[in-house]
Amino acid sequence: MAIPQPTQRVADYENMGLGMFVHWGLYSQLEKDAWGFWIYQYDMAEYKKAMDTFTAEDFDAEKLVLTAKNAGCRYIVLTTRHHEGFSLYDTCGLNAFDVMHAPAGRDLIREYVDACNKHGIVPFFYHTTLDWYHPDYRENFDKYLGYLRDSVEVLCKNYGKIGGFWFDGNWDDWNADWKEGELYAVIRKYQPDAIIINNSGLRRIAVATHPEIDAVVFEQGHPKPLEREGAPKYLAAELCLPMNDHWGYVGTDWNYKSPKTIIEALCDARRVGANFLVNVSPDGQGGIVPMQSLLMQTVGDWMKLYGEAIYRGRPCAAKSSGRNYALRSDDALYLMFYDLGEGGNKNVTVNADYFGWQAFDRVTDEIVSVEWMDNGEKLDFIQQGEMLSVGATGYPFGTHTLVRVAKAIIKK
Ligand code: GLC
Repeated sequence: MAIPQPTQRVADYENMGLGMFVHWGLYSQLEKDAWGFWIYQYDMAEYKKAMDTFTAEDFDAEKLVLTAKNAGCRYIVLTTRHHEGFSLYDTCGLNAFDVMHAPAGRDLIREYVDACNKHGIVPFFYHTTLDWYHPDYRENFDKYLGYLRDSVEVLCKNYGKIGGFWFDGNWDDWNADWKEGELYAVIRKYQPDAIIINNSGLRRIAVATHPEIDAVVFEQGHPKPLEREGAPKYLAAELCLPMNDHWGYVGTDWNYKSPKTIIEALCDARRVGANFLVNVSPDGQGGIVPMQSLLMQTVGDWMKLYGEAIYRGRPCAAKSSGRNYALRSDDALYLMFYDLGEGGNKNVTVNADYFGWQAFDRVTDEIVSVEWMDNGEKLDFIQQGEMLSVGATGYPFGTHTLVRVAKAIIKK
């Protein structure tokens, strides 16, 4: 059966590979994630007071965009409105629960989009579909859906070309008729090239809820290859991951993932061709948390060495053992080695194993050379039939870059 081809916008999206998620809103001031409202059963009138102190004085869109760019991200997904219902954009009169009516008084989405455009990063808009603020959400759902569409229309019309929409919340009620087609028609009318994503949530991982969807989401999930044979269209995929245990700011959540966990999750996502979206959660006034910026910087250091594999490499038939695997571009195989230890000096290093000969099966390309991407060291290799064996040396003493990538050049 045939495998459908990606449309140009989906191919462009897959080429971006790595993105930065940003969860930020009124809730960030409460330091209880975006879900604090729900979990602690706030009264909306009480909760709304957070608007009176929302100055956004530390929100520096350019700094945020450069954090992403230096990490090797090619796009950002920012929460323009999260479940609390507060908009970081000028709703142009749809309601007064927006940034223009808070002390901040500036359209933060305008600043975000301008900074993205200035630095060549593609802006995406996260937008909630469920709403804890708007009474119509519970009382007059159809009317609420009109408000949601009008909100999205504002975002489509006022900020120039945007990369896509990232919806989230339909999982609040799978039985409801969300009229997705009408919502997506608004986007297709004004932003025909925008990617449309609608997170299917933790219980229905990677489900496309509507034919207009361009990419499915593995929320914190273990990504699996998508079954594309005979599918009506080519769907991309994305894995999103918080750096600690919450999406929104929590000052006392110190349960940060290690650089190793984050880099491996990125590589695991690309193994199945999924994009990787790593989350940061600015604090109440929009400042970037130092620990998060350091982790982003480390991702960037890794991407500077191996990013070519992430952007250009796509899943291929080659198989290896354990978590090691290969990606392929039109001129190279990228051999991804996990848990490679240092190659020598067993006296002073804790983890002095290294792989030695490592086999990749089902390689049909003729390889002319293999080298580590980080230092250009040439590696021995042997090809027998479809078996490519590579003499994987360990890290030179004094380096350890987590997942190490060797580039195998394919004969023209
Ligand atoms: C879940 C959470 C939501 C978060 C999203 C990010 O849907 O409910 O708060 O924004 O995941 O993937």
